[in-house]
Parts: sequence; structure tokens; C-alpha cells
Amino acid sequence: MSKGLRKGLTSYGDAGFSLFLRKAFIKAAGYSDDALDRPIVGITNTASDYNPCHGNAPALIEAAKRGVMLAGGLPMVFPTISIHESFAHPTSMFLRNLMAMDTEEMLRAQPMDAVIVIGGCDKTLPAQIMAAASVDLPTVVIPVGPMVVGHHKGEVLGACTDCRRLWSAHRAGEIDEDEIERVNGRLAPSVGTCMVMGTASTMACVTEALGLSLPMSATVPAPHAERIRIAESSGRRATEMALSGGPRPSALLTPAAFRNAEVVLQAIGGSTNGLIHLTAIANRTPHGIDLDAFDTLGRAVPVLVDLKPSGQHYMEHFHHAGGVPALLRSLGSLIDLEAATVAGGTLRDVVAAAEAVPGQTVIRSADDPIKPVGAMAVLRGNLAPRGALIKHSAASPALLQHTGRAVVFSSIADMTTRIDDPDLDVRPDDVLVLQNGGPKGAPGMPEAGYLPIPKKLLARGIKDMVRISDARMSGTAFGTIVLHITPESAVGGPLGLVRTGDRIRLDTAGRRIDVLVDDAELEARRAALGPVQRPDWARRGYAHLFYGSVLQADEGCDFDFLRAEPIPDSEG
Ligand code: FES
Repeated sequence: MSKGLRKGLTSYGDAGFSLFLRKAFIKAAGYSDDALDRPIVGITNTASDYNPCHGNAPALIEAAKRGVMLAGGLPMVFPTISIHESFAHPTSMFLRNLMAMDTEEMLRAQPMDAVIVIGGCDKTLPAQIMAAASVDLPTVVIPVGPMVVGHHKGEVLGACTDCRRLWSAHRAGEIDEDEIERVNGRLAPSVGTCMVMGTASTMACVTEALGLSLPMSATVPAPHAERIRIAESSGRRATEMALSGGPRPSALLTPAAFRNAEVVLQAIGGSTNGLIHLTAIANRTPHGIDLDAFDTLGRAVPVLVDLKPSGQHYMEHFHHAGGVPALLRSLGSLIDLEAATVAGGTLRDVVAAAEAVPGQTVIRSADDPIKPVGAMAVLRGNLAPRGALIKHSAASPALLQHTGRAVVFSSIADMTTRIDDPDLDVRPDDVLVLQNGGPKGAPGMPEAGYLPIPKKLLARGIKDMVRISDARMSGTAFGTIVLHITPESAVGGPLGLVRTGDRIRLDTAGRRIDVLVDDAELEARRAALGPVQRPDWARRGYAHLFYGSVLQADEGCDFDFLRAEPIPDSEG
């Protein structure tokens, strides 16, 4: 099989000429024949002025290049799309699959024997790993790492659990304009990803658990020197993989690896988005994620990591307590230690080398968990025939079993317009319902599932209510929030049939979410709605492709034509 510069020649009908021409052009950049004969390690560049989370990507790229060259390879840096949460309209999730396609096609089109993908802000690592799984090129993932924490009035705080908490306090009149502006400058004090257990941290931990990044890659803070050294080591390792041809993602992304990732997702109090992304990654392999098995696992796996929003601390504290390797050790027999990793060994080697930190309280033992069961539960019921998700570790325990009157918002725009209306008929024990927030409805399934508490209830000190939707929420959010209701209302899901005044029952213990309206009435409402029409926003370009191809939350919201073929049951 061809290697290095000889791989994937441009088609001119004469392979010798294709190589001759390629070398002629690359020599314009000053490369020698010796350099061009080396194994090539591609390195993605997702640095962007619009992506402050990736502000350290240039330094990581330099270190990775150094590692590649120290090991005798040729590093080749190339750009891909970069997505930042706050700079992506209508929502970053709308663009995740575009980034996955861009990355996949660049890995296929350009000659490289291994690749290092450097990402971190929420949708970027999932997009890059989806691509790597499809191309099946030896891949090392380098997360950019979490931000360090901020401080305000003696309190430790960070993006973005505290963003929401303090903004809610501002909305409730407890924090004035001047103070909220000061807070604004302190929530994100460095480059790197949000330092609570939001989606970025979740996916970095899941990546390490999947064996796709070197040990401790998930938790070293973005500005630390150790992160640079991990990038250098990743460069060396990627070159070894380029020379030996493996391990490829297909050797690492096994059923055992996905199960380990699910265990870690539950044990870290991970973001609900993590399940969608893990499902999308698994569906790029012949395996997949079974929602009911994930729920069953959640009943056996305790939350062990004390990080916001489920707990108290931040990623740098998790790191100083031993990071993912120490967590894997605490999880004991719940983890399959025979799973291979990109480092060349197995998770058994990773756990054997895990640091023991005397007196640390961030990574708990199974005897002293933060929560005795996992972070998330899968709900079903007449509102969610294909499933819904609740992060009960970050919910109010008193609301987990609750029946209340529905207050329905038909879209995100409707919610934005009416939620703070002093005349809104809403009580603390009501259930706030958001429709048309799903993959096709919004579009892109934005993080609107964290419906704000109406201002007039906030002023009465109400901090949480049951909120349900087909949208997502930020992994950094806290509340009794049912998300990812599938199928979504915009494709005819039953959530779209709920009307203000209906009774809704959340039964977390029984894993159900139901509207207490009889079937005949629901069918009459469905008949009155008429057929689903393609919306105006989906008439052209990527939006056209997105609307026609995006899958529902239970299938990871990938495009239908990008999934791998599953292995038939009889073959395991
Ligand atoms: Fe980039 Fe939070 S905004 S990780």
C-alpha cells in the first residue's frame, strides 16, 4: 500500500506524472526530498479568531509538529472548519455534521499516514472523531484542554454553569448592572474549553476513555506547560502509528470501548449532549449505542467526580486529583481494562500508572459517591416513544416525581417573547413545554431546553421547575429538565400535540414522561395539524442537505448517509 506523499494521487491518468507534479508543487514550499520521503502525519488546524476556546491551538500544533519530527515523520498542518458555541448561528449543532464531513473529506483527499486532530469546543471533538472513525486512519486526538478557573468576590467560578446561575441572579434583581459586567470579565479567564463538566469536558473525558487520546489529555488545563508536552508526545506517538499502520480507530472503537465511554459519561456527571455525540460516533462504526442499555448502566454506575454542575469543583481540580486514569481506577470492575488505547497498550496500563493523590476529594470512591447512581436516565412514555433524557444528577430531587399543568411555547421565538410577560399564566408547579426545538424544528436542536424560569417566578425565589422539550441543553446547565424528546414535534412527534392546560407527569423513577390526555384526543389534535411541510430555511445549500438527512436524537443527529452498516445480530 502506498505511503506518505505517494498516497491518494490526484488523477491525471499517469501515476508517475501525478507524483512528479505533486512533488514539484510541494517543493515550492521549500521541502527537501528527505523530508518528502518521510511518513506524513497530518495535523488539523482549527484555530480561528471566532474560536477563543482554541486559542492555544497554534502552540499545540507547534508542539505536535516537534513530536512528529523528533520521531522522524513529516508533519503537515491543514485547516478545517472551526466551531465555537457562542459564534455559531443558529447553533453549533447545526454545523457539527458539516465539520465532520469537511474533516473526513480532507483526511481522505490529502496524503497522510496518520492524523492528529486538535479540538475541544463542544461540537469539534465529536465532529473530528466521527470523521476519523469513518476514514479509519490512525488518529491521535489532542483536546485543547479546559480553561483555568476565575474568581469573583472570593468565590471560585467558571464558564458556564456560573454564567447561568449569576445571570439568573441578575434577572431576579439580586445582581446589578455593574456587578454583572465585572462577572462577565471573570467567567472565562483563559483560553481553553469551559472548565465545568460541560460538553467539551465531557467529550474530552469520553475521548480518553475510548482510548483515542494519551492519558491525562482530557484534564490538563489549556494554559499549562504539561498540555504542550502532551501535544509533543502525541506527535511522537502519531508518527509511530504512521510507521506501523495502527492502531486504527476500528481497533480501538470496540463494543468494550463504547461501554467504557458510557460508564465514564455516567460517572463524571457528563453532559446530556455527550450521549448524542457518542451515539453519532458509535454509528460511524458497526456498533452503536442502545439507549435502554445506557439507562441500565446508569442504575449501576455511581457519579464519582465532584464537578459542577452536578458537584462543586472544576476541571483543573479533577486534573490535580489524578484525572481520567484515577477515575478509571475508582470505577474498578465497571471498566473493561482490556480495551486498547492509542498509547499502544490497554486501559490496564493506564490505570496501573494512575497517580494516587492523598487527601483529594474530587474523585470519590464507589463507597462514597457524589450520587449513588449515574448522571442520566432515559425516559419513555406517550410523549417520547423513542426516548428522552434527564440529567437527574443536576436536577432538584423534589421535582423528579412531579405532575403539573403544561404551559406550552410553540417555538423558541414564542418562548422568548412570552416567558417574562407579567401576564403569563404560570405557577411554580407548572411544567414548561417547548415545542419545535429539535433537529429539524429549530433547526439544529439548539441548547434551548434550559427554558428560563419566568421572571415573575424568579422574583418569588423559584429556582427550578420541570421543563420539557425536544431541544438540547448545555452540559453546564442545572435543573429538572427533560430533553431530546424523540421523535421531535416538527416531524409529528407527540410533543407537538400538547396544549396549555394539559397535565404532564414526570416519573423519573419509573423512567416515564407522559401527557395525561387520552389517545383519541391526541389523534384528533394530530389530524388537525395536517402534513409536515419543508420550511423556508431549508430550501437551499447546506440547510437543504441538513433538513433532508438529519437523524433524530436517539440516532445521534448524524446524517443518514454517513452511518456505517451495523453488524447483524448473529455476528455479535
Ligand atoms: Fe467552547 Fe464552552 S464555549 S467549550
